[in-house]
Amino acid sequence: MKIVSVVGARPQFIKAAPVSRALQAAGVHEVLVHTGQHYDDTMSRVFFNELDLPFPDINLGVGSGSHGGQTARMLEGVEQVLVDGRPDLLVVYGDTNSTLAGALAAAKLHIPVAHVEAGLRSGRRDMPEEINRIVADHLADLLLCPTATAMDHLTREGINRGVHLVGDVMVDSLETIRSRLRPDAATHLGVSGSYFVATLHRAENVDTKERLRAALEVLSAVPGPVILPLHPRTAGSVSRFGLSFPENVHVTEPVGYLDMLSLVAHADAVLTDSGGLQKEAVLLGTRCLTLRDETEWPETLEGAWNTVVGLDLRLVEEVLAGPAPTGEVSGFGDGHAAERIADIVTS
Ligand code: UD1
Ligand code: UDP
Repeated sequence: MKIVSVVGARPQFIKAAPVSRALQAAGVHEVLVHTGQHYDDTMSRVFFNELDLPFPDINLGVGSGSHGGQTARMLEGVEQVLVDGRPDLLVVYGDTNSTLAGALAAAKLHIPVAHVEAGLRSGRRDMPEEINRIVADHLADLLLCPTATAMDHLTREGINRGVHLVGDVMVDSLETIRSRLRPDAATHLGVSGSYFVATLHRAENVDTKERLRAALEVLSAVPGPVILPLHPRTAGSVSRFGLSFPENVHVTEPVGYLDMLSLVAHADAVLTDSGGLQKEAVLLGTRCLTLRDETEWPETLEGAWNTVVGLDLRLVEEVLAGPAPTGEVSGFGDGHAAERIADIVTS
């Protein structure tokens, strides 16, 4: 069996790594296509090295651009790969423009599509990821859901065929690396004692001066040093808008996966608008404050491990001063999602 997998952005390398291993173990011939959506070494290469993901067979090198322009270049590139290679199946991950382009190119050529991380919804059509998810799910033949909530979303939209609850592949990746996490990752960045970790990259938070200023103000209210591995989108906005970072914020380049999880595991709390990081924080026993108005991962809210705080300064202070989270978060599977995916796509 021949499968083309399309990846392009940081979280997709992390999601694809365990699936790629499981496909290989199942005897599948996988052709890994990197669209080139993320291209800095710190946003791409580092993950292939760290996660033992084979280097891409094909890199389309599309780079950055407007949604339409970037997606169009990916669509053309993936289409050519599919025409040349005629795989039995195409696999896409998550909700980026690379996901949309891959699913659309395959569907138009009548090549079956498997969508890993199907069924997530924020309920906000003004979020680019929501458009990408909805289209990918409605084009997919196999919908591989991480959570029961995701399954429910698909049922509500009338998608009933090819839907499977497999668990979250990000748990597979996390469990592979958990024993290697280090307590001194912050010290290596020049931060000693207790600290917080933050990430920011959602268009809604960083694409306008007012929102980005408000997000930085939130970080300034955190009672301690905040390590901020800076996403290139946010770096661009900070410089374009002429903003500066609060004194307690320690800005670094984006860090590798092992460093990121090490930082998160030993932080007092994580403040983020990332999807993946919300889950990683709570699964590593670190409180999360989500700098958005909703979450695609309501399971993380259990026991107040995660709180949706938006950019509300007072709420952030209240949560950080409040009681510690209790109980355990569950519902993301058992760390064997990738094997289930390999079983389903090969049967
Ligand atoms: C993309 C995804 C988002 C995902 C995120 C993960 C879409 C619509 N968005 O957002 O869902 O959560 O990746 O990180 O697909 N840039 C660089 N170097 C790089 C990559 C990007 O400098 O290697 C800069 C460019 O100025 C670019 C900007 O970052 O214009 C945004 O990159 P892009 O891939 O368009 O969107 P992300 O914000 O990364
Ligand atoms: N991540 C990382 N280094 C960083 C920031 C994030 O390795 O500097 C990892 C993080 O641990 C998670 C994934 O990247 O596994 C999340 O990606 P991102 O926040 O870019 O995208 P999202 O999950 O929001 O789509």
